[in-house]
Amino acid sequence: MSGLGDDRNSDRTGENTVKKMASPFLSDTVSAPEATFFLPDTDVPDLEFAGIKAQYAALREVIAPQIAGVFRHCQFVNGPEITELEDALADFAGVNHAIGLSSGTDALIAPMLAEGIGQGDAVFLPAFTFTATAEVPLLLGAAPVFVDVDPRTFNIDLADLEAKIDVVRAEGVLKPRAIIPVDLFGLPAEHAALNQIADKEGLFLLADAAQSFGGRRGNRRVGSLAPVTATSFFPAKPLGCYGDGGAVFTDDAKLAAGVRSVRNHGQGAEKYAIDQVGLNARLDTLQAAILLAKLPSLDREIEARNRLADRYDSFLADICITPQRDADAHSAFAQYCILVDDRDGVQSRLAEASIPTAIYYPKPMHVQEPYARFGDGPGSLPVSEGLSRCILALPIHGYMRDEVADRIGEMVRLAITRT
Ligand SMILES: Cc1ncc(COP(=O)(O)O)c(C=O)c1O
Repeated sequence: MSGLGDDRNSDRTGENTVKKMASPFLSDTVSAPEATFFLPDTDVPDLEFAGIKAQYAALREVIAPQIAGVFRHCQFVNGPEITELEDALADFAGVNHAIGLSSGTDALIAPMLAEGIGQGDAVFLPAFTFTATAEVPLLLGAAPVFVDVDPRTFNIDLADLEAKIDVVRAEGVLKPRAIIPVDLFGLPAEHAALNQIADKEGLFLLADAAQSFGGRRGNRRVGSLAPVTATSFFPAKPLGCYGDGGAVFTDDAKLAAGVRSVRNHGQGAEKYAIDQVGLNARLDTLQAAILLAKLPSLDREIEARNRLADRYDSFLADICITPQRDADAHSAFAQYCILVDDRDGVQSRLAEASIPTAIYYPKPMHVQEPYARFGDGPGSLPVSEGLSRCILALPIHGYMRDEVADRIGEMVRLAITRT
């Protein structure tokens, strides 16, 4: 990477003389001049689906020094930025413990592993979600129990959840152990009611907030709404890094210690004293540095997403189903999804107008091949199946200009009304 202390140039120009290190063991090594970390400019298209380039263009001046700092100390694993980020995330979310993990998926697996969930256990989760939510119980030897979702919020349906818990108890084959509700598209699920159900049933509650970090319910932020919360820092998420990353949030000191141990091969108090079976699931120092640079902008970006969602609503609310608004819940608007009957037609008309869209999710989990044996097949979860047929996500991100959102709103309106 030539930008890192460009010693070849220095050699040629005679400036910044390259010094040999004093150590006899490092005779071929040269000391780099002060790092002049170079981050390139990016061409930002007018219309981006998730705004990764637009955000980078806006924040590169604060991201560059953070990255350069990591190359200065070269502690790429467990560097000081990890603790700094964990403290900042815990403060932001309003919890005692935030633990960096290598992905959102690992942030779901680690607390479940620390809690000892596995063979013979039933884990309740919505069928209308990303695969990661469902793969976690299976990887641990537990059984996913698919629950339908609410047709307005797209989040787990509380009545169906209670019914499914009753069925599993009555069957007596699996032990109800955990619930993983998902804050789909950024809208926090009904966590107060979920906490009550989990308490009443004695179940471990792990919120999948991969899409909702930065959102709130009342004055409480995502991360503090459930006893344990997992989020993802995948680049397209509301708080994204430049690779994979995730975090767990909790006030429970014992669980936090368990997750810290699991992410580091199950290590105990000493390096080679292993307490439990674990993973290599640590967050990279470089990703932590990038997240430290981005976190201060998150609230502003979420406000922008909400403002754009209002603009979309004003074009679309009378001709299709637009996202649920709830006075108490402030969505992170990871996605702005509408429901339209002729979804595929609308999508192809928008593609002709160069407007990118996406389908989350074309198939619910209970009809996906690896999970079908845990469900009751097509027709068993009608809301999830119906949503899969008519859901369509429109571009949204914290750096989209209002005029661009208005243009998209108009085009989507046209694409729907032409059907
Ligand atoms: C609902 C949900 N859960 C879990 C994950 C997994 O996160 P990651 O991709 O960081 O492993 C995602 C990522 O897309 C997600 O959307």
